[in-house]
Amino acid sequence: MIKVLFVCLGNICRSPMAQFVFQQMVEEQGLADEFIIDSAATEKYNEMCHAGIHHGTKKILIDKKIPFTEHYSRCIRPEDYVRYDYILAMDDANVTDIQTIVGFDTEGRIFRLLDFTDSPRNIRDPWYTGNFDETYQDIVEGCKRFLEYLDV
Ligand code: 4NP
Repeated sequence: MIKVLFVCLGNICRSPMAQFVFQQMVEEQGLADEFIIDSAATEKYNEMCHAGIHHGTKKILIDKKIPFTEHYSRCIRPEDYVRYDYILAMDDANVTDIQTIVGFDTEGRIFRLLDFTDSPRNIRDPWYTGNFDETYQDIVEGCKRFLEYLDV
């Protein structure tokens, strides 16, 4: 079983989008039983508000016919570092914030999602840019390359 946790700042825009895009990819390849996939935030604000998936992310998932269930923001916890094999951040700031919460990455589990692509880079935050399409393109590219990297 491969356990994957996608992480962003708020866990309402990018990381739930990545969670459901990747879930659909593994299902299409008949690999769903091989994976546990979830997402989390690096800040507690949206968890305290019991915030669900941002409407911009929901619209993309609906438009692209990607199945999703409601997901409520939760902040990553130190025990997630033990539980998950891959902790996939959206940007550099997420990586720094994750390490502040879980400690130093002794097992080499923390990556940026786009580190698995030919052009490693951050995924810009649509909360600020308003551009959910750009985020979706980046997430699809990252998830595809990550699945190829796993070679399951
Ligand atoms: P996300 O975007 O990290 O992609 O979920 C954000 C969502 C909410 C906030 C910031 C970023 N916020 O400040 O509440």
